[in-house]
Amino acid sequence: MLNEIVKTTLLNCSLNEIDILNYKNKVQYIHKVFPQFEFIGWMDSPLYNHNELLMEIEHVASEIRACANVLVVVGVGGSFLGARAIQEALKPYFGLAEHGIEVVYVGLNMSGAYIKELLSYLDKKQVYVNVISKSGGTMEPALAFRVMRLYMEERYGNKAKERIIVTTDAEKGVLKGIADKAEYRQFVIPSNIGGRYSVLTPVGLLPVAVAGVDIRALMAGAKQAAEELSESDLANNDAYKYAVMRHMLYEQGYSIELLASFEPGLNKFHEWWKQLFGESEGKAKKGLYPSTVNFSTDLHSIGQFIQEGSPIMFETLLHFHEIKGDLQVPFDERNEDGLNYLSHRTFNEINAISKQGTALAHAEGGVPVIQLELPKLDEYHLGYLIYFFMKACAMSACLLEVNPFDQPGVEAYKRKMLELLKEK
Ligand code: PA5
Repeated sequence: MLNEIVKTTLLNCSLNEIDILNYKNKVQYIHKVFPQFEFIGWMDSPLYNHNELLMEIEHVASEIRACANVLVVVGVGGSFLGARAIQEALKPYFGLAEHGIEVVYVGLNMSGAYIKELLSYLDKKQVYVNVISKSGGTMEPALAFRVMRLYMEERYGNKAKERIIVTTDAEKGVLKGIADKAEYRQFVIPSNIGGRYSVLTPVGLLPVAVAGVDIRALMAGAKQAAEELSESDLANNDAYKYAVMRHMLYEQGYSIELLASFEPGLNKFHEWWKQLFGESEGKAKKGLYPSTVNFSTDLHSIGQFIQEGSPIMFETLLHFHEIKGDLQVPFDERNEDGLNYLSHRTFNEINAISKQGTALAHAEGGVPVIQLELPKLDEYHLGYLIYFFMKACAMSACLLEVNPFDQPGVEAYKRKMLELLKEK
């Protein structure tokens, strides 16, 4: 039986079901050897009972919401992209979630203007800090935390330590040493879960709980995905099917996968997806370049290229059938704009039709289109989708014969930067 939650279909594409299923044995083999990888903890984690941890996170989150109006999350890469993705996908477009406070991010760049502006913004707020780093030594968050720590001490004196929460490894790293010495409260990133696969650990869960997200529903969706997508048979596992489809398109010469959504709240989710696939697959001179667009906005910028430009990309359309909030197109007696024919429709209906039209037009233009459809944009389905993509990504990287869980290229940049900084 195919998975019910993420419906995966193909449109006008050179792939067919029989060719896809030819990968059955290869997929089964990779599925079997997954447990041999070091950083595979995320795969079974949603199946375990996390009640105690969730209670602790909810407890700290409610303290933060009661004592602050801003949580500053310090982190980069896998230590912030997932939290920001979930928060942005689920919060209202304007204002905050009903039970949440503002969550802002720092340590994700080296911009002096950004951090300086943040500090003056915080001066009018009550603040908590959650610093997140698995290694505990990444330059961007380490520098930002140095600033935030001094700022908190200056503002809150010896009460600062109650307002700083550290999420890091249980044993290793500079940040762990700082946290122990200062007696900051700590959450642990399991040692067998790498950064970009860590969103369903305290890395993502604490910030989103503070933002007002129901983390139990999120984890329940991930659990259902972990159950359904533990199926080793390609014919019954849509995450593996998606992995095989993108792999086959890559083998046919497509070098870019364009993930497209129709809801602007998913823009940050795209950033999480981009890191997940980019860092997991872009190795040994191989890998699809993961790119993203938000429609219909980007149909008016990059749509022309997709339709008629170099045939280097295929498109993955991500669509949620039910979106919170909608508006009916109003009837206007004057009808000067000639749009009364749409007044029986809602905006979300028109958006869904624009999705269908886009898929048909792009397929007609020769762009292979994979469609991923989910019933609803909420915590449960987002939890499911996050796990779906992580599982597909691990399979897809293994089909390419690269390790999904390391990032040697990023380490190279860090080494070079350090050498230059020390030279000066
Ligand atoms: O996926 C990864 O492992 C990386 O993107 C890391 O998350 C990122 O480099 C941040 O590392 P750390 O959490 O150790 O500060």
